[in-house]
Amino acid sequence: MASLTEHLASAVASLVGHGGLPGTLPESPVRMFRDWLEDAAASGKYDDPNAMVLATSTPDGRPSARVVLCKQIDDQPPSIVFFTNYQSRKGDELTRNPHAACVMHWPHAQRQVRIEGRTELLDSAASDAYFASRALLSKLGAWASHQSQPLQSRGQLVQQVAAEAARHGVDMLSAGSARIPRPPHWGGFRLVIERLELWQGVQGRLHDRAVWTRRGDGWESTRLQP
Ligand SMILES: Cc1cc2nc3c(=O)[nH]c(=O)nc-3n(C[C@H](O)[C@H](O)[C@H](O)COP(=O)(O)O)c2cc1C
Repeated sequence: MASLTEHLASAVASLVGHGGLPGTLPESPVRMFRDWLEDAAASGKYDDPNAMVLATSTPDGRPSARVVLCKQIDDQPPSIVFFTNYQSRKGDELTRNPHAACVMHWPHAQRQVRIEGRTELLDSAASDAYFASRALLSKLGAWASHQSQPLQSRGQLVQQVAAEAARHGVDMLSAGSARIPRPPHWGGFRLVIERLELWQGVQGRLHDRAVWTRRGDGWESTRLQP
């Protein structure tokens, strides 16, 4: 006869057995991560489904965090790409301490992705290509905004943008024709993934977590207690 503990275990299993991660974890987490992002985008519930909190820290370990957009997920090396001002607070912290962490959260699906790794500068050709795809005002803003520096007034920013428009020969009324190169202080960071956790919310707060850690060219994976 089954013990009370066995009865309880089977009752709990019927509650937590649904909606979690696959029973057998995939070799690599990158495809599931990409699927989750695509699913969030397809849900139509987010203006920026690719928004993620990026944490950086000073060499002596003082952290700071802010939202950036994940613009690319790559398989080789397993990595994500975001774009920013290299002289911003985050840019400065990453230059001095390349270790970073990111988290994405999609409440509609009760999903969280946590990533840790080392950042490196994206190669300049890829940064150029992305910059070229940006809207005119975004390009001018990248030149005009000394991101993370003090600003006296909004008027100062408008003047800085106007000055950059004039410098690049942009007529704001018939915009579009001027070629604006990428500023040397602006571009991509590639965060090479060392650890990635997929978190799937499950009824009763018995959530399903799995973490993949990079080992050589492969991954080691394990489930974690919620
Ligand atoms: C939804 C959202 C998306 C953002 N995307 C970016 C981005 O891709 N790159 C960026 O530099 N800042 C982005 N920002 C602004 C940053 O959160 C932050 O204010 C800015 O980068 C300055 O951060 P720092 O002073 O820590 O360097 C975004 C903010 C939000 C709310």
